[in-house]
Amino acid sequence: MDHFLYRDGVLHAEDVPVTEIAAAVGTPFYAYSTATLTRHFKLFDEALAWGEHLVCFAMKSNSNLAVLKLLGDLGAGVDVVSVGEYLKARAAGIPGERIVFSGVGKTREEMRIALEGGIRQFNVESEPEMIALNEVALSLGKVAPITVRVNPDVDAKTHEKIATGRKEDKFGIPIARAREVYAEAAAMKGLKVVGIDVHIGSQLTDLAPFEAAYTKVADLTRALREDGHEIHRLDLGGGLGIPYERSNAAPPLPSDYGEMIRRTVGDLGCEIEIEPGRLISGNSGLMVSRVIYHKQGEGRDFLILDAAMNDLVRPSMYGAHHDIVPVIEPAPGTEMQPFDIVGPVCESGDTFAKQRPMPPLGEGALVAFRSAGAYGAVMASEYNSRPLIPEVLVQDDQFAVIRARPTFDEMINRDTIPEWL
Ligand code: LLP
Repeated sequence: MDHFLYRDGVLHAEDVPVTEIAAAVGTPFYAYSTATLTRHFKLFDEALAWGEHLVCFAMKSNSNLAVLKLLGDLGAGVDVVSVGEYLKARAAGIPGERIVFSGVGKTREEMRIALEGGIRQFNVESEPEMIALNEVALSLGKVAPITVRVNPDVDAKTHEKIATGRKEDKFGIPIARAREVYAEAAAMKGLKVVGIDVHIGSQLTDLAPFEAAYTKVADLTRALREDGHEIHRLDLGGGLGIPYERSNAAPPLPSDYGEMIRRTVGDLGCEIEIEPGRLISGNSGLMVSRVIYHKQGEGRDFLILDAAMNDLVRPSMYGAHHDIVPVIEPAPGTEMQPFDIVGPVCESGDTFAKQRPMPPLGEGALVAFRSAGAYGAVMASEYNSRPLIPEVLVQDDQFAVIRARPTFDEMINRDTIPEWL
């Protein structure tokens, strides 16, 4: 459920007509709903209310400071994967004890900054990383709390580019080697083992792969405890999918997910962490764009938008589907017509949808991409020298620009021409 509905024939973000935001900030732009972000965070928080837990928002999905501040104020932790994310989370007021640090390639400098600034735990992904973290911690006279990310060799049955839990993927340590690796960790004075971490992929629409992975983690917890390790925290990763196509069957709800977690690992007495990104931010955001031209091609019609693959890369990168709806609600009975919906970037991959049934839309019409709050703005670039598009946060009847569109001068002045040229 989200808070983007038609009212009096106009798509609204909460109580604000999308047309009003477009008039104020220009197109294209991202708009996020405070109510939807809040609701989705709370769904997870309530789904785990049966035990001690922390919902760590995967901020790679949406790292705007205002979004982080909103979720942080609700009690969320965050999952970060770079020192840039760590510093943004801190700047948004999230304390170190609510930040977990994931990622396969943490540098020593990143480790140092997080250790000095305060961190809940590092999710360590390899032995070389473990050795480096131990050295950095010892050099600072600190002890780094760690989990080891295990790779459970489970196929998440999701898009090839976002599956992470199979043995051929680059993530984590093979679960079969975990006891050995935990023994090595326990011998390192700069590290303190606090738990186990697992994350098998993103946009999972079935609980079975999660259940298979978490069952393996439960068995590993028992085995590691037998070996004398104090396992009191389980980080179960993110990955629960969202309904990108309203016409499709809905994926499992956070409450079903929470029940499954209870069933698989709930008897271990561990504190549970989860790292959802997409389910919190995805359906909380729209990308709004304007039709530049309606072009009649050879046997097909194109809607050429002012947004492009550099603004929302998911369709070109993963062949992802986003529902695209007119901001002005079509009259009942309006006949639909198939369009190829594209951006102005100079490559054919800059296509958002092919032969998508849409009502007749002419120059200047506004359209909204649904489910664009996750992996939208964060993956944008200035390809084709198109400045990053603004982000807007809506709450009830008010809205604010939470990232301004850079001016052309700002974009140009980011480059420098050497004196000798
Ligand atoms: N934890 C870890 C360690 C992750 O690698 C990820 C996502 C998450 C949590 C959050 O997963 P979520 O709950 O959002 O599914 N750009 C791609 C998605 C990449 C996901 C990468 N890791 C997309 O647009 O579909």
